[in-house]
Amino acid sequence: MNWGMKNRISRIIKPKTGRCVMLAVDHGYFQGPTTGLANLGETVAPLLPYADALMITRGAIRNWIDPAVDIPIILRVSGGQSILKELSNEIITTNIDDAIRINASAITCSVYVGGEYEKETIGNLSKLVDEGEKYGIPVLAVTAVGKEMARDARYLGLASRICVEIGAHMVKTYYTEDFGKVVEACGNVPVVIAGGKKLPEMEALQMAYNAVSDGAVGVDMGRNIFQSDSPVGMIKAVRAIVHDGKSVDDAYEIYEQEKK
Ligand code: 5RP
Repeated sequence: MNWGMKNRISRIIKPKTGRCVMLAVDHGYFQGPTTGLANLGETVAPLLPYADALMITRGAIRNWIDPAVDIPIILRVSGGQSILKELSNEIITTNIDDAIRINASAITCSVYVGGEYEKETIGNLSKLVDEGEKYGIPVLAVTAVGKEMARDARYLGLASRICVEIGAHMVKTYYTEDFGKVVEACGNVPVVIAGGKKLPEMEALQMAYNAVSDGAVGVDMGRNIFQSDSPVGMIKAVRAIVHDGKSVDDAYEIYEQEKK
């Protein structure tokens, strides 16, 4: 791995703990104005001091994020589909030149293993890895799960391993029972979990705790943070689990205190 690639990864996965809290706000790329993100700038601003990286599209960053902000950007460079149609029909929407102009610390696309356009989305990842390797920009592969797929360790391990074999530098997947097997399937490639649909805060914190206990380097969480009744409380609580090794109860207390 070249110097630039290592340097960018260490801006995201903090060397002090080997962990990271990514804040995902890229949902609009196929969902439109997702609850909590209609005014993305207002939602994100108070959360940035507690996030290690921001996952976002180029349109959203240019519209809502101050360029003077000090946060590594994980640029969502895929899209082309919507919730109204087949989700796996994804293309690369942003070229590497624009990712460099934005000063992206990583680029990301989704891979739909088992989806109708499986081969095309694996091809997207492969092209990003080629471009990323050329310029020292790491690629975060997201294992997107079609409606018909089981989110179990067997499926997520298969999807994540394929991303690793294609050359992804980081993998984002979903938490599941036997998550250690998913992490194991990724070898030395760091794994983070997505939060998924909004859960009660305690359950979301438990999931983050279980994920890091099973070997994830952290989370790339969206709705369970920005749709919480205390988004700042929730990101602080997640951070306490991921970086400080706090228990779920202690983290929940942090969330409660901030809510008050
Ligand atoms: C979509 C994504 C989203 O960023 C992802 O789902 C993270 O957000 P959440 O925690 O809300 O699931 O990658 O494919």
